[in-house]
Amino acid sequence: MTSPDLFRLEQQQILDRCWLYVGHESEVEKPGDYRRRTIAGRPLFMIRGRDDQVRVLLNSCTHRGAMICRRDAGNSRVFQCFYHAWTFDTAGNLVGVPGDDAYSSDFDRAALGLKSPPRVDNYRGFYFVSFNPDVEDLVTYLAGAREYIDLVLDQSAEGMRVMPGSDKFTVKANWKIVVENSLDTYHVNPMHRTYLQFLASFGTDDSGQSIGDRIPGYGKALGNGHGVVEVAARGGRPAGRWHPIYGEDLRDPIASRRQRLVEKHGESRAHRIADTYRLLLVYPNLVINDIMATVIKCYEPLAVDRVESYHWHLVAKDEPREIRSIRMDSFLTFFGPGGFATPDDVEALESCQAGFRATGTEWSDISRGMLRPVPLGTDELQLRGFWRQWHANVQGLSETNVQDGVATEGEIPTSLRTGR
Ligand code: FES
Ligand SMILES: [Fe+2]
Repeated sequence: MTSPDLFRLEQQQILDRCWLYVGHESEVEKPGDYRRRTIAGRPLFMIRGRDDQVRVLLNSCTHRGAMICRRDAGNSRVFQCFYHAWTFDTAGNLVGVPGDDAYSSDFDRAALGLKSPPRVDNYRGFYFVSFNPDVEDLVTYLAGAREYIDLVLDQSAEGMRVMPGSDKFTVKANWKIVVENSLDTYHVNPMHRTYLQFLASFGTDDSGQSIGDRIPGYGKALGNGHGVVEVAARGGRPAGRWHPIYGEDLRDPIASRRQRLVEKHGESRAHRIADTYRLLLVYPNLVINDIMATVIKCYEPLAVDRVESYHWHLVAKDEPREIRSIRMDSFLTFFGPGGFATPDDVEALESCQAGFRATGTEWSDISRGMLRPVPLGTDELQLRGFWRQWHANVQGLSETNVQDGVATEGEIPTSLRTGR
């Protein structure tokens, strides 16, 4: 948490070796649309070419290195470098060199296009890059996380899209404790009590249960450092679970969303999609919290005690306006910069980092639930999965050989499977 030497090692052994999230294809919908990002310290941008292909290009001019994409988002037919005006098209080809008669016949324009990271791939529209040419293929890397990405994306028959805009904020804490926090449900009751009370004040849902009741759930390590917590969706889901906070008018529209899920996926998968929240970590730094709203969180480590945090809002493409509106409201109410959760979480994480300075603590306790045969959601199995992978990686190993109890489908508490 506090060692600059370990931070440098993490850059080499984790960020330079893993698959890292860049963005979702819906962010670049039309040819020429681009989004600028910084991934593992490297400036790059994701762009849809005029040939409709999505590419990830390093944001560095092949002449002297200047950054040629100068805005966070936009649409452009070409990118002209502001330094000596070399010009690149939407596929990264070098298409304009002022005064190119001054170059010799060996000057090879074709070789001077913008470069891509060594590996670029996508899973169902989620784009990842790796700076490690030898990294395993993306689907293999995703391991057990893939099933949960599918559950997130299957909540809409027409697919999901990212809303324009993002929340971006710097947290003065080590990136690992920020990642941990997104999968830590132990803190929810004590720290987000105001939000739980707020939801509970709307009364009980159709099953007669309130969010304030003990929420069943379990944690799972998904391999390769990925992890998940699944808990019963007692605060409602725009995808198909009504909650009194939505108002009576939305009871039928949400029931019909649910019906579409049943028709497409069958009752039991529809139940899993609609009645369960997922807090998913794709190692090392992508989190998808699929709860009342669905947030994609990505963490870019800046220093041993500083991390840039990004939130994007993933919504169903086809949902009616009034359902979109409750999603947006849930997103802002909980995750937003003035929401019930994010400011509290940031306060806690910065407080931990400050506390590390006072006490010299370099390690956190993550042993909760180690002796339980079936770990609960408020236990820390999913965090141990993350840390074991981390530990293997900083030693230069690609995987850990240490496991503790991993819940399998059959072991998931009945209360969660049928907890309506
Ligand atoms: S650095 Fe881009 S044209 Fe010279
Ligand atoms: Fe939190």
